[in-house]
Amino acid sequence: MAQEDVFKKIVSHCKEYGFVFPSSDIYDGLAAVYDYGQNGVELKNNIKEYWWKSMVLLHENIVGIDSAIFMHPTIWKASGHVDAFNDPLIDNRDSKKRYRADNLIEDQIAKYDEKIDKEVAKARKRFGDAFDESQFRQTNARVMEYQQKRDALHERYTRAMQGPDLAELKQIIIDEEIVDPISGTKNWTDVRQFNLMFSTEMGASADGAMKVYLRPETAQGIFVNYLNVQKTGRMKVPFGIAQIGKAFRNEIVARQFIFRMREFEQMEMQFFVKPGTELDWFANWKQTRMKWHQTLGFGAENYRFHDHEKLAHYANAATDIEFRMPFGFKEVEGIHSRTNFDLSQHEKYCGKQIKYFDPQTNESYTPYVIETSIGVDRMFLSVMCHSYEEEKLDNGETRTVLHLPAALAPVKLAVLPLVKKDGLPEKAREIIDALKFHFNCQYDEKDTIGKRYRRQDAIGTPYCVTVDYDSLKDNTVTLRHRDTMAQERVNIADLNGIIEDKVSIASLLKQLQ
Ligand code: GAP
Repeated sequence: MAQEDVFKKIVSHCKEYGFVFPSSDIYDGLAAVYDYGQNGVELKNNIKEYWWKSMVLLHENIVGIDSAIFMHPTIWKASGHVDAFNDPLIDNRDSKKRYRADNLIEDQIAKYDEKIDKEVAKARKRFGDAFDESQFRQTNARVMEYQQKRDALHERYTRAMQGPDLAELKQIIIDEEIVDPISGTKNWTDVRQFNLMFSTEMGASADGAMKVYLRPETAQGIFVNYLNVQKTGRMKVPFGIAQIGKAFRNEIVARQFIFRMREFEQMEMQFFVKPGTELDWFANWKQTRMKWHQTLGFGAENYRFHDHEKLAHYANAATDIEFRMPFGFKEVEGIHSRTNFDLSQHEKYCGKQIKYFDPQTNESYTPYVIETSIGVDRMFLSVMCHSYEEEKLDNGETRTVLHLPAALAPVKLAVLPLVKKDGLPEKAREIIDALKFHFNCQYDEKDTIGKRYRRQDAIGTPYCVTVDYDSLKDNTVTLRHRDTMAQERVNIADLNGIIEDKVSIASLLKQLQ
């Protein structure tokens, strides 16, 4: 099945099984805004718990905060967001659709990469085991021509974005003969800058109202609380502050479902370090964060670092952790060495000293910062994409199953009485009453056992138990495992011991140590 079709199926699966709904659904939705349903919120909470505990429980020197969404508007001036948090936009006059100019050019670069990959794949098929890919790439005329065009375009684009030089971005679109995917025409407007922050007014009277922004990142809430936390928590550098919260961006082109939203959630951690040590800490956090991702068991080959060639003026190193989505490798998390830019800017704009006094060396300095920033929704999407499978069974049937890591699954155990009578429902409820304090259980008595198993497979429940007539006599049940569909007879008294450790967030956290 084409990856595009797989992705469409995942999107509709999310809706059908209560994971993600379009926002304001009964009013036909609101572009790029989504609601999480009864299963989605559980999965999302589990992702957040895994992140939060990995930061705050596993590091003695990291603490959390929860800062407000509204902040003093000068914060966004100091951080650079008022002047520079822009995307270059371009309209097509025929389709009346709006695009990000940088995305159009990046897609064009990707097209060259695809052409090269196609040539390589064809040659591999032709030459079999004797194929030497690196020699082929260096000598094949067609591949070399594509590579040259790609590299030239990439260099020109990178230079244009540095300014940014908006006229040059438009010229690239014209020179590359990029057409609007909808109208098929090259009837483009000029490229303009578009600020991504949402604003509103705070205050009751119209003339006294103050323009405030919905925060476009949670990080600034951490920076402006640096002194509060450092002093009240008696924190010693190096230390970190973690936060999970909503962020808002008026994205020009919101696409790929919950990948790019206008209201989304971030999990960010700012790690304050001594100047000069920041690149070691950057390398350290790269490894720590990659391990956090890979511990979910989705396969190391599905992740990669994308080190930034073009650095923001305040950063001295930056990388993205990318995950293989059905629409290609995409950024899920960013790790940045942000120097002392943010704290220095706030010091300048608020007029107060924001420093750290090192009692060991008797010196004061502005700490440097390593930031790890991951989108909850993108993480959610990567988990769904990797877990979704339409599995062909030996009997010719197909089952749709979510192979969610057990610790992230919304429901851990479904308890199913074989029939709705003769005391079996009561026995099932007894099991739930004993286990509901340990993990999320669900009761289901409707339809055949087979159908009920399928319903649980579709939401990723790792375990089901069936209560039958023997259960009443000997207190045993059939325990069914989601991935293998294997069944075993176990004592009810042993259920907690078998399941609890496997479905707990602690089981993941232990692997991080
Ligand atoms: N404080 C740094 C910062 O905000 P970013 O690369 O703009 O950096 C960090 O965002 C992460 O937030 C991204 O890696 C992505 O996972 C998530 N993110 C950013 N914009 C998003 C959007 N419009 N929708 C969903 N997630 C988004």
